[in-house]
Amino acid sequence: MRHKKFYLETFGCQMNVVDSEQMIGILQGLDYEPCTVPEQADLILLNTCSIRARAERKVYGHLGRYKPLKKANPRLILAVAGCVAQHEGERMLEKAPWLDFVLGTHNVHRLAELVRHAEVGGSPLLLVDFLDEAQRRTLFPSRLPSREVSRFVTIVQGCDNFCSYCIVPHVRGREVSRPSAEVEAEVRSLLAQGTAEITLVGQNVNSYGVKEGNEIAFAELLRRVHGLPGLQRLRFITSHPKDLSDELIDCFGSLEKLCKHLHLPVQAGSDRVLQAMGRGYTAEQYLTRVERLRRVCPEIRLTSDVIVGFPGESEADFEETLALLRQARFAEIYSFIFSPREGTAAAELSDDTPAVVKQQRFDRMLALQETITHRYHQEDVGRLLPVLVEGESRWGGGQLFGRTDWNRIVNFAGDPDLIGQTVSVRLSQAQRNSHIGVLAEPPGGMG
Ligand code: SAH
Ligand code: SF4
Ligand code: F3S
Repeated sequence: MRHKKFYLETFGCQMNVVDSEQMIGILQGLDYEPCTVPEQADLILLNTCSIRARAERKVYGHLGRYKPLKKANPRLILAVAGCVAQHEGERMLEKAPWLDFVLGTHNVHRLAELVRHAEVGGSPLLLVDFLDEAQRRTLFPSRLPSREVSRFVTIVQGCDNFCSYCIVPHVRGREVSRPSAEVEAEVRSLLAQGTAEITLVGQNVNSYGVKEGNEIAFAELLRRVHGLPGLQRLRFITSHPKDLSDELIDCFGSLEKLCKHLHLPVQAGSDRVLQAMGRGYTAEQYLTRVERLRRVCPEIRLTSDVIVGFPGESEADFEETLALLRQARFAEIYSFIFSPREGTAAAELSDDTPAVVKQQRFDRMLALQETITHRYHQEDVGRLLPVLVEGESRWGGGQLFGRTDWNRIVNFAGDPDLIGQTVSVRLSQAQRNSHIGVLAEPPGGMG
């Protein structure tokens, strides 16, 4: 019998990546196998992100494009999951009545029911209820075994911070931490399958366990995971500066397998704007954290997120963000123009900065950051660095790719047997999004 095929497209952050892995497991359990072209699929599922208005519009664009496929093949199942599904709910079925189901962020584990219902031609379904915290603690994504070198493990779901611009707490619900025993069990099982690198994920991993009361703190969880046999590398994402404890910072000095990279979103350099964002720290407090990180671990590289054009941001506020970028010397930033999100506090603020001015600020910021990033990349040429080999490069030709501690991609010639191992690579050339390197023998340490 022919297996049915699914086409799953994933947008957004690490949380959606993990949810998609769970969805794949459920679909395979229903005898679906993945395919790479939507035209060949029996089921098209979009796992969506609503962090900015553009991300949300993109989803409707896709649904418009898939409508003719559904018309040509009425048995095709077309569905939306993730944060846009959660946020839009009923509205989504009104705007795209050719959909079979809309699945919210707390109900991924019920995907099978919805697919079965759609298979027999049932009417469109909406499943966007929020579950209570006790239930959700027992419902962290479970995934099928896989032999990938690097895997995410979810430790926190939801977010309680309510930064004034951000939709995440509204579409993911309140923050819950996963029992530490379960985290350890999942990591052990991944390591036993051959995974070398674990990234602990959540919207704010730094507040792990705090609310639960009976749980260990994040730094302790990190130490426990670090001690598990077979682990080569450990990472975590995302950190909130207000919850970055000294104890956690000190882990960068004491845990050898913890990668010397930290993504620490700053969002703005003006205290007035930071306060309006509800971030809970000043620029100076942020920079004090950075200083301590560099004292504890001089090799550490930091990356960050920055929002330009928050309502009421003046030229002087913006200059303060540029000044912070110069001081913090991030290796990379992800920058965004403020996008008002329905239901968030900042969407109600009056905003008199013209769009062209925001765009100019955005471009100025990008130009500044490019010079800083470029300098790092040039200085790295000639260095011998440990690289965890993740796979064969897309270009083929005997090329492998892996990452440095700093999460920079390196392409180099080598034997596919090296996949899953940490090797020493001499960086020979910097490109825009990666370095080219040459494998050094024998494997050694960071030089
Ligand atoms: N949990 C992480 C990241 C959340 S979303 C954190 O706390 O930092 C990723 C990034 O998207 C944010 O860091 C922020 O820079 C950006 N972002 C979130 N909401 C936004 C909005 N309404 N407009 C523009 N950028 C936004
Ligand atoms: Fe959004 Fe703030 Fe939570 Fe990050 S910490 S997900 S920016 S509300
Ligand atoms: Fe986007 Fe949802 Fe993540 S809004 S950033 S996919 S939590």
